[in-house]
Amino acid sequence: MKTIMVCIKHRYTDKPSCGGRGSDALACALEHLIADRQAPVKVHRFPCLGLCELGPNMKVVAGEMYHHVSEAMLPDILQSALDEPEA
Ligand code: FES
Repeated sequence: MKTIMVCIKHRYTDKPSCGGRGSDALACALEHLIADRQAPVKVHRFPCLGLCELGPNMKVVAGEMYHHVSEAMLPDILQSALDEPEA
């Protein structure tokens, strides 16, 4: 099954974090989209993808990494996971 990693790290300092920029809601919205389409893709909530200042960040396993993710980008990210060959 394809996997999309979603950074959900929260920082409670002045440093940026994906969780502080709404990635929890994005992960839930992505799961709803996957369920609606019955897509063979799972969401893996991840503690940090290492590019915190560019968040919210998501990574299609064996595929693209996406920065500054918004809800409008989720269909394209899901499609890119579906287009990725099985690892
Ligand atoms: S906090 Fe999301 S990549 Fe580090």
